[in-house]
Amino acid sequence: MKKEILEELKRKCNSCYKCELGKTRNNIVFADGNPETAKAILIGEAPGENEDKTGTPFVGRAGKLLNEFLEKSGISRKDDLYIINTVKCRPPQNRVPTDSEKECCADYLIKQIETVNPNVLIFCGATALKSFYPKKIPISKIRGEVLELKIGGKIRKCIPIFHPSYLLRYHSLDEGSPRDLMLKDLRKIKSML
Ligand code: URA
Repeated sequence: MKKEILEELKRKCNSCYKCELGKTRNNIVFADGNPETAKAILIGEAPGENEDKTGTPFVGRAGKLLNEFLEKSGISRKDDLYIINTVKCRPPQNRVPTDSEKECCADYLIKQIETVNPNVLIFCGATALKSFYPKKIPISKIRGEVLELKIGGKIRKCIPIFHPSYLLRYHSLDEGSPRDLMLKDLRKIKSML
């Protein structure tokens, strides 16, 4: 049932040219994961080069690091998560998607969220946080907090976490380091699934 609704939505996205990103994409990057079993939706920023080539989110360097962290925290990417981005098409030169590009994609995201109806929404990085959370607050100040936000007609538990691209720059595992905090946040999410 969920799969059919999402297949139909994917067909729509494949023929979407609402914004300029439609002109330069090779593939839309619709989602990854099992919508029937997913208990959380992870929302990243935007597809990069590898994602645009393959049509799958988080398959490049950041994606590999994300996979490592998921494994360490006991979250199954395949069964527990449904992964999407704030936009379905790659912005040129991997720039941050504009508000208007995100707005063009918003209805697709809402439909995915309503259909999968997860226990938790994970805002992975500042761009995803900004898309759904009105207050201007740095991700470092709010990560790991459970926010209750009305999204897709329902109050939903949402947790911001660091983006794995940020973690690529910090290797320390010391208490309070970005990687340490990421692991703590993911373990907290695991306990909410
Ligand atoms: N970064 C993202 O935010 N999303 C992807 O799909 C890949 C890299």
